[in-house]
Amino acid sequence: MLKYVERKQTDSKKWDGLEAMFGASDLMPLWVADMDFKVADCVVEKLKEYLDFGVLGYYKQPEKYKQAFINWEQTYHGYTVKKEWLRYSPGVVPAINWFIQLLTEKKDSIIVLTPVYYPFLDAVKNNGRNLIESDLINEGGNYTIDFKDFEDKIIENHVKLFILCSPHNPVGRVWKKDELKGLMNICKKHDVKVISDEIHQDIVIGENKHIPVATLGDYDSMLVTLTAGTKTFNLASCKNSFVIIPDSQIRKAFDIFVQCIRIPDGNAFGYIAVQSAYEKGRAWLEAVLHQIEENYLYIKKKLHEELPLAEVSPLEGTYLLWINLGKYIEGNELESFIKERCKLALDFGVWFGGERFNQYVRMNIATSKENIIKAVEQLIQGIENICH
Ligand SMILES: Cc1ncc(COP(=O)(O)O)c(C=O)c1O
Repeated sequence: MLKYVERKQTDSKKWDGLEAMFGASDLMPLWVADMDFKVADCVVEKLKEYLDFGVLGYYKQPEKYKQAFINWEQTYHGYTVKKEWLRYSPGVVPAINWFIQLLTEKKDSIIVLTPVYYPFLDAVKNNGRNLIESDLINEGGNYTIDFKDFEDKIIENHVKLFILCSPHNPVGRVWKKDELKGLMNICKKHDVKVISDEIHQDIVIGENKHIPVATLGDYDSMLVTLTAGTKTFNLASCKNSFVIIPDSQIRKAFDIFVQCIRIPDGNAFGYIAVQSAYEKGRAWLEAVLHQIEENYLYIKKKLHEELPLAEVSPLEGTYLLWINLGKYIEGNELESFIKERCKLALDFGVWFGGERFNQYVRMNIATSKENIIKAVEQLIQGIENICH
């Protein structure tokens, strides 16, 4: 069911963009968040059908595409999404940038829970807003929310917007009901709007359960949820994501905004791929989840045996593993060590919030077990070489 594909020399960003990003091309790439697995057969079949038809004229957003997503949310997340709430964007990150412009003014404060997916940080800064970071509490690799710090910072800085990452990239948490409610209630109390990035909603490990924050209370007037088939079905290049806006005023503002930038809809390939994946891709996803869990358990065990001082955060969700190597390597030497001595391309902790995270790496484990074994071996070998 799941097929690993060699992606070198296919213009893959992960494999062929190494030189540009890391200054070397001979690294094992476990960085940018896509998978090295072929997409579900149903996706390939539908795209082939469309190409056989052969007319690539202007394309209208299919009703069935929206319905497939609505059904998915209802079935797997218990979230009833109304059709009129749904909008398109070419990505979750573009939508985050748009909503920053729509929901806040220049110099307004926007809060995030750090360490966090770095485009959140860039989006706030690039749009001339004031970035407020509330660090998660880290106890031996287990991350929780510092509610007091979160609320104090909201009050102190007159925060207008919170960008939530749920599940959380990079620390792998699938937030629990109480945690989400705690955050939302603080935001509601202080009139803070929320963008909830739930792009990793389907990548949950074991018994963990993703809860769409929208299902936890009456947050319609303060909440926009962003998600996509991108991570779930490995469709990043399709540039297709869902914007869920229950509030009619925010929807109206969004529609005007989108008309002004003239990006009202996406390309046919994205719609077709996404629709067929939501309709028929569940079994494929199950196989992916199985492989991710197997890879995770392997890494955890192997590092525990061979590098017991490496702190691997429990992976509840996402396929991105957060590892603290600070007991082996000085933070300021970590990047060159990983690239030059271990021959690995990983995301570095500093990207997710600055120097205080410089002992960390984020490892994308959505690849073959063989690649994982090789990468872990390279890491262990690199560390053993400097320790002896
Ligand atoms: C939390 C999060 N949001 C958004 C994205 C990317 O979204 P898009 O490609 O739709 O802009 C990623 C990709 O890694 C992600 O981890």
